[in-house]
Amino acid sequence: SRSIRSFSTSPSFSIQKITIYGAGLMGAGITQVAAQNGLNVTMVDVSDEAVQKGKKIIDASLTRVAKRIHKDDEKKRTEFVENAWKNISTSTDSSAAAVDADLLVEAIVEKMDVKQKLFSQLDKIAKKSAIFASNTSSLTISEIAKATSREENFAGLHFFNPVPQMKLVEVIRTDKTSNDTYEKLMDVTKKMQKTPVTCKDTPGFIVNRLLVPYILESIRLVERGEATHEDVDTAMKLGAGMPMGPFELADFVGLYTLKFIADGWRQGGKIDAHLVAPIKTLDDLVARNHLGRKTGKGFYSYS
Ligand code: NAI
Repeated sequence: SRSIRSFSTSPSFSIQKITIYGAGLMGAGITQVAAQNGLNVTMVDVSDEAVQKGKKIIDASLTRVAKRIHKDDEKKRTEFVENAWKNISTSTDSSAAAVDADLLVEAIVEKMDVKQKLFSQLDKIAKKSAIFASNTSSLTISEIAKATSREENFAGLHFFNPVPQMKLVEVIRTDKTSNDTYEKLMDVTKKMQKTPVTCKDTPGFIVNRLLVPYILESIRLVERGEATHEDVDTAMKLGAGMPMGPFELADFVGLYTLKFIADGWRQGGKIDAHLVAPIKTLDDLVARNHLGRKTGKGFYSYS
């Protein structure tokens, strides 16, 4: 069974204090898994309201995890949740929260200029030895890193939604990322009880580089009238062992996000254009604000 752990400092492991920027879906999730595994973490967002939203996400999720791992022991459940909260602080002062962090993870809006602006500001305040990491899904890590004077201490740390459940983290090395930075990130990922994989700084890294074209081709297949989306989902679940079909997955990820990623990659010109060619069905759904689960309608309807 799992329990809260604390770690003594070993010479090869120096990340003890982590600051997470963004208290949204991803930032809250990363904060939770770090805290749950004995790391000291500060979660930062731009307003008190956003921080409170993040805390609510963490609270609901910690309660769920506690129920799973300490089913029959109410005392242990309470202890688990309380111990995790002891490792979490929050802030709306991005600079103050950067001062003594060993690792700063960014999980804010998916916009290059906004991410660069934040990192450029933090670069002037954070310890020289501190590592910077971005959780971006679709932007180029080396381009974000250029906003700082610490490209050797900069990498991608890509978590998956929902963070407390998904075991994978992609650790992204740019041409400039040092071995030391890379190894520390591999290490901290394992401390969070995740499994790291390594990938170069390429569009979509491993998972999304394969998943996005797969989902897009599923939409084209249905657009061509070859099968229904329900049958494609059934086929991929029962015939290929996927836990979700591509249309269920598209609705889960969000159709705006899917289109945003495909459009960005096409414009970036680093991947074969036909893999991310525009699709009328997808563009129409997004134009009508049918974005998937979060708006109640996408390829499927949700109540
Ligand atoms: P979200 O919209 O739920 O949360 C973003 C949060 O960042 C908001 O609370 C916003 O107020 C805050 N924020 C904006 N500017 C800020 C700043 N300058 N300083 C501090 N906080 C700021 O977004 P979500 O889904 O959590 O995504 C965040 C990042 O994670 C994006 O880069 C996204 O590409 C990436 N990502 C998202 C995944 C997903 O499935 N949603 C999966 C993997 C990565």
